[in-house]
Amino acid sequence: AAASSSSEKGTGGRDVRVCSTARSTCFCSAPHRSPGRVQIHFCFGADFLIDFHIGLLVLRPATSSSAYFTVHWWWRRAGGRRAGGKMAPPRRVCVTGGGGFIASWLVKLLLSRGYAVHATLRDPCDPKNVHLKQMGEVRENLHLFKADVLDYDALTRAFEGCEGVFHLATPVPEDKIVDPESEVLAPAVKGTSNVLKACSAMKVQKVIVLSSNAAVDFNPNWPQDKLKDESCWSDKDFCQENQDWYSVAKIVAEQASLEYSEKHGLNVVTLCPPLVFGPLLQPTVNTSSKFLIYVINGGPDVMSNKLWHIVDVRDVADALLLVYEKAESSGRYICAPNSVCTKDLVDLLRKMYPQYSYVNNIVDVDRKAGLSSQKLKGLGWRPRKLEETLSDSVGCYEKAGLLQGSAGRNCRLPHLFRLAGDQ
Ligand SMILES: NC(=O)c1ccc[n+]([C@@H]2O[C@H](COP(=O)([O-])OP(=O)(O)OC[C@H]3O[C@@H](n4cnc5c(N)ncnc54)[C@H](OP(=O)(O)O)[C@@H]3O)[C@@H](O)[C@H]2O)c1
Repeated sequence: AAASSSSEKGTGGRDVRVCSTARSTCFCSAPHRSPGRVQIHFCFGADFLIDFHIGLLVLRPATSSSAYFTVHWWWRRAGGRRAGGKMAPPRRVCVTGGGGFIASWLVKLLLSRGYAVHATLRDPCDPKNVHLKQMGEVRENLHLFKADVLDYDALTRAFEGCEGVFHLATPVPEDKIVDPESEVLAPAVKGTSNVLKACSAMKVQKVIVLSSNAAVDFNPNWPQDKLKDESCWSDKDFCQENQDWYSVAKIVAEQASLEYSEKHGLNVVTLCPPLVFGPLLQPTVNTSSKFLIYVINGGPDVMSNKLWHIVDVRDVADALLLVYEKAESSGRYICAPNSVCTKDLVDLLRKMYPQYSYVNNIVDVDRKAGLSSQKLKGLGWRPRKLEETLSDSVGCYEKAGLLQGSAGRNCRLPHLFRLAGDQ
């Protein structure tokens, strides 16, 4: 486990943080590997440790520190704000599923804006979360908590002291779902319910739930010539008939979030992004990025020429923070700035990067109505152009070696998009 508990008390303008951690990693200090030591960690412009070890007092740079218990004084340079001559504590928020594709960008953004961030992870020691340890000089403001969303008590520990929670943790399965209940429905629906209840219990003031256009877009009764806005809900029965369990999970979780807000007076806002592309911060490849990699590498699966809605991962992070910080935000927000059908997406990419093979098995389908992001833009959201998202995504995939010439032969379109493509 990472940080299993932490406490904080003001001490004349400074703060004392006591981190009781297991041996692996903790962002309050350097890695802890030697139980039995006590360290005092001063950060006044430069980091130094006073290390009391077998009766010796040693002053040394903090870079190679290790300890089991750490008492950590720090001057709040990163994100700290002065209030009447004293440093005001940073605003504290929690991000569930903090190591994921979108969540990592949100954590990075929050840290850069001076927030103290609690990030929940199912396994903080998993190497797939290593990127969080490299989040620059403000990492002392990042605290990791081990929590499955099905574990209510773990969530309450992570939310303690937080004024806001961003709930992003939901599985986005790549393969065909065999057991809908355990694979998506329970973590999405029961998980969201646990998050909301834990927020109420811990007196969290505002909760942003990341939903999806899967909860907006799959509505066969919506008129084809009318842009879909926040009043449009995907048809749960239609999705169920198509065995589109991910969409069912997102619909039920978002509806339950808004109902919970009404009933219990918790300030909950939901955000509905469509396909999210953009550079990866995490070392693994998430499901929506696999969609774009598949389109570029080509592969055996047939794609429909449907209209895809696309948003940049950095713009999703901006939108999440925007709806959090704007006191007037309420209800749901669509964030779908770009729409392009498969053939046009391939043409655009081919113009930018002619060297790749691309999908060529594309069948025409009926077009559905597009999505409107006007409500979010009205709050001041200014998303990037699609070309920038595509070029930054491709640049990142190239660096990671994901666009090799022969990759197309082994590449598969994630099952989620084969389904969506048929609707
Ligand atoms: N990417 C898109 O195109 C897109 C579009 C619309 C909405 N969304 C929504 O955005 C959110 C993040 O998705 P993403 O694209 O960033 O995918 P991702 O990288 O796969 O992130 C999903 C996160 O959920 C966590 N998670 C899954 N089951 C969990 C559980 N039972 N308890 C705790 N954490 C759990 C995962 O943690 P582990 O690492 O432990 O598995 C992972 O951190 C999801 O809510 C998704 O529905 C994504």
